[in-house]
Amino acid sequence: MIMPFMKNLSAGYHESSFDIVTITIIMENIFMSRFISVACCALFVISMISADAKAAYDVVAGKKIYETTCAGCHKGGLLGAPKLSDKAAWVPRIKQGLDVLVSNAIKGFQGKTGTMPARGGNSQLTDAQVSDSVDYIVQQQSK
Ligand code: HEC
Repeated sequence: MIMPFMKNLSAGYHESSFDIVTITIIMENIFMSRFISVACCALFVISMISADAKAAYDVVAGKKIYETTCAGCHKGGLLGAPKLSDKAAWVPRIKQGLDVLVSNAIKGFQGKTGTMPARGGNSQLTDAQVSDSVDYIVQQQSK
């Protein structure tokens, strides 16, 4: 009488312990897939941030380019160029937005005060270098 009951009990115990194992495995899988998706999300965010950091302007490089290429006109206001130190001249230009300023500096443009040559007359400069120097000029206006 007792033996079959014991057998049943142990069988029952076995079954439920198997269930616990199964549940544990399922939970672990859920946890792992969650973990993996969280890790993937984190990686994605990190890559977005670093892509952003790359896209951001390099003001230190911009300063050098300004000094070697742009200062010739923009320091002293040669040929009608807005002076670096002339905030009043830059504020309305900055209001156009950085994209317009960058595009005008890359392509060159004829304005009311004079002619801004494409890439400040230095065709060796890349778009990124011109953007950096424009950003440097713009940053100086908020100081
Ligand atoms: C040969 C002289 C000269 C050089 C060199 C020069 N600029 Fe200019 N730049 C001008 C003149 C002139 C203007 C003003 C044009 C106007 O608005 O009439 C100007 C205007 C600008 C503007 C304002 C654009 C706008 O939309 O109002 C930016 C930005 C600019 N220059 C950036 C640069 C950068 C960056 C360099 C160096 C890579 C550079 N410039 C080199 C003459 C020059």
